[in-house]
Amino acid sequence: MALRTDFDDAVVWITGASSGIGRQLAAQLSARGARTVLTARREDALRETRELCGGDGRSVIVPGDLSDLGAIDALAATAEAAFGHLDMLILNAGISQRGLAVETEPAVVHSVNTVNFLAPVHIIRRVVPAMMERGSGRVVAVSSLSTRVPTPQRSAYTASKAALETYLAVLRRELMESGVGVTVALPGFVRTEISLNALNADGSTHGRLDPAQEKGMSPEDCARRIISGIERGRREILIPTDLRTRLGLYLQRRAPGLLDRLMAKAEVT
Ligand SMILES: NC(=O)c1ccc[n+]([C@@H]2O[C@H](COP(=O)([O-])OP(=O)(O)OC[C@H]3O[C@@H](n4cnc5c(N)ncnc54)[C@H](OP(=O)(O)O)[C@@H]3O)[C@@H](O)[C@H]2O)c1
Repeated sequence: MALRTDFDDAVVWITGASSGIGRQLAAQLSARGARTVLTARREDALRETRELCGGDGRSVIVPGDLSDLGAIDALAATAEAAFGHLDMLILNAGISQRGLAVETEPAVVHSVNTVNFLAPVHIIRRVVPAMMERGSGRVVAVSSLSTRVPTPQRSAYTASKAALETYLAVLRRELMESGVGVTVALPGFVRTEISLNALNADGSTHGRLDPAQEKGMSPEDCARRIISGIERGRREILIPTDLRTRLGLYLQRRAPGLLDRLMAKAEVT
């Protein structure tokens, strides 16, 4: 069965569409003819994204807090009802973390995993069956290169993304004959608000734009890379964003012990 990879008039639900990579995905997909359904907590920011997507008629905002798992069925039903069906689901919303594993409060691990892993699972269960019935659809998730190059101070974050990737790897095989494809994007450092909103070990907000983030790839370029990978029907889209992430990927494969020692000394926030 041919898996859908084009965007013309496709209905795409994007979570985390109020800023960063999600906003750029929404704007660029709209420019290619997609109709977008936009979810995040900040309504004002979602309205700004909707304007970038051509405004009413082509784009609908469905605000919601993905940490409220009990509300996700209703949220997904509203997203589906916006244009009558969904062709593509982009699981992009996420929060990061800064803090040593042994110092990080379990509540922080819980919060990060709820938004990054459990919420996507709840959404998939609610949305994918209709795609299967239609025999067409695609689930896209924005994971992170940190699952390939584990980076200190991001244990809960990396674990949540790895859980999502593994879940989706199984889902991909289960959906093989259904017409529904699964794509996972793994960016390195992208210049967004992710480090500002990251949770510290005690649950406070990190509140800083980390140097690696500041020097990272633009969210526009990252979105372009993700869209190009979707168009090619790729299973995984690795997006190393600079020499450091390329070197990290290489050493992780060839000399992980050496990378352990280098990473222990590296500046990671
Ligand atoms: N930037 C990077 O270097 C980088 C690298 C690898 C992977 N990623 C991944 O890329 C994705 C997008 O992040 P970004 O870099 O674009 O950062 P961002 O600008 O902080 O975007 C995160 C998005 O997630 C939404 N979100 C967070 N918590 C939410 C919740 N409880 N309910 C609903 N929406 C929520 C935010 O919206 P509200 O605050 O309005 O709710 C925002 O739209 C994330 O999954 C992140 O892990 C980023």
